[in-house]
Amino acid sequence: MDFFHYENNELYCEEVLVSDVAESVGTPFYLYSQRTIVDHYKKLDSAFSGIDHLICFSMKSNANLAICKTLANEGSGADIVSGGELYKAIKAGFNPQNIVFAGVGKTDSEIEYALKTDILMFNVESMSEAKAINRVAGNLGKKARIALRVNPDVDPGTHKHITTGKKENKFGLAIDHAIEYFTEANNMPNLDVIGIHAHIGSQIVSTEPYVESLKRLSKLISDLEKVGINIKTLNIGGGLGIIYNEENPSTAQQFAEAILPLVKPTGRRLILEPGRFIVGNAGILVTKVVYIKQTETKTFVIVDAGMNDLIRPALYDSYHNIRPLKINGTEEMTADIVGPICESADCFAKDRKINVVQEGDLLSIFSAGAYGFVMSSNYNARPKVAEVMVIGDKYFVVRKRETYEDLIKGEVIPQDIL
Ligand code: LLP
Repeated sequence: MDFFHYENNELYCEEVLVSDVAESVGTPFYLYSQRTIVDHYKKLDSAFSGIDHLICFSMKSNANLAICKTLANEGSGADIVSGGELYKAIKAGFNPQNIVFAGVGKTDSEIEYALKTDILMFNVESMSEAKAINRVAGNLGKKARIALRVNPDVDPGTHKHITTGKKENKFGLAIDHAIEYFTEANNMPNLDVIGIHAHIGSQIVSTEPYVESLKRLSKLISDLEKVGINIKTLNIGGGLGIIYNEENPSTAQQFAEAILPLVKPTGRRLILEPGRFIVGNAGILVTKVVYIKQTETKTFVIVDAGMNDLIRPALYDSYHNIRPLKINGTEEMTADIVGPICESADCFAKDRKINVVQEGDLLSIFSAGAYGFVMSSNYNARPKVAEVMVIGDKYFVVRKRETYEDLIKGEVIPQDIL
């Protein structure tokens, strides 16, 4: 369920006509529906209302302050992976006691920053990292709360680039040796081992991989009890899939029904780290058709957004639905929808059937709220696009479009070559 809809063949976001936004902010831009974000968060939150739980929004999916603030206001926590995300999380108003810190390469200064901020816990990915956190905490005279991330070796059946819980991935610690790792960490004087963490991948549409992973995690929890290690939190990561095209992902309710029978008996506090589920379908990328180019074999619809603005199709061959903001009739055309960047991979859709469009028309690239703006770059010296949030019948620019001056910010020509 999202709050983008067509009325009289024109696209609305909540009560705002999307082409009105385009007229005032120019193209391209990301447009977010706040109501959709809140609705998705609440669906997941209420599905788990029967047990002690914490939803930590995965900021890597979308770290815009207005989005984070919206979620912080709902009581959400944050899943972060860098000092930069911690900085943004605090600016957005997340309670540090609801922040968990993952990532395989945390540096000493990031660890120190997180300890001084008194975040809820670190999700630790290696014993070297455990040692580093123990050392930095010792220097600060603090005790660091940690969870060990285990790799349950489950295949989530998703794209190879976004699978993270298989043996061959760089994430987490092997579950077969977890008792040794937990014991070792538990013996470090400045660590408080309070949790277990696993994240098996992203865009997972069925509940089975979670059930499989949870079976292994609950066995580990009881094995740990036997050796006197009593963890308090069970973090099963993020990964819940959404509809991009014709997927049939499980709903929050179905997800909860499938995993609660395994989570409840553990009696532990459940932590979830959804990103895409909350913001994926809460955002679109609006772009304008600059040219239509007819070659011998193809029609190219050349738009003003590029792979630097939304890299998912180029990087993962991912499908995004594309439709004009204003639909004129039912006639269709087959075209490649491409950006202006000098790379063949700069293509949003290949041989796609779309409603007939003309130069100057506006298009919406749907399901762009997660891993959209956050993965954008200045490649080809293109300023980053604006981000706009709709709240009911109003809209707000929540990140200004970059200017040419922004492109040279921090660059210096040495005196010697002047
Ligand atoms: N927790 C951890 C430890 C993660 O690594 C991730 C995502 C999440 C939570 C949130 O996963 P989500 O609920 O959003 O699926 N750029 C790719 C996705 C990369 C996901 C990385 N980790 C894409 O555009 O599909």
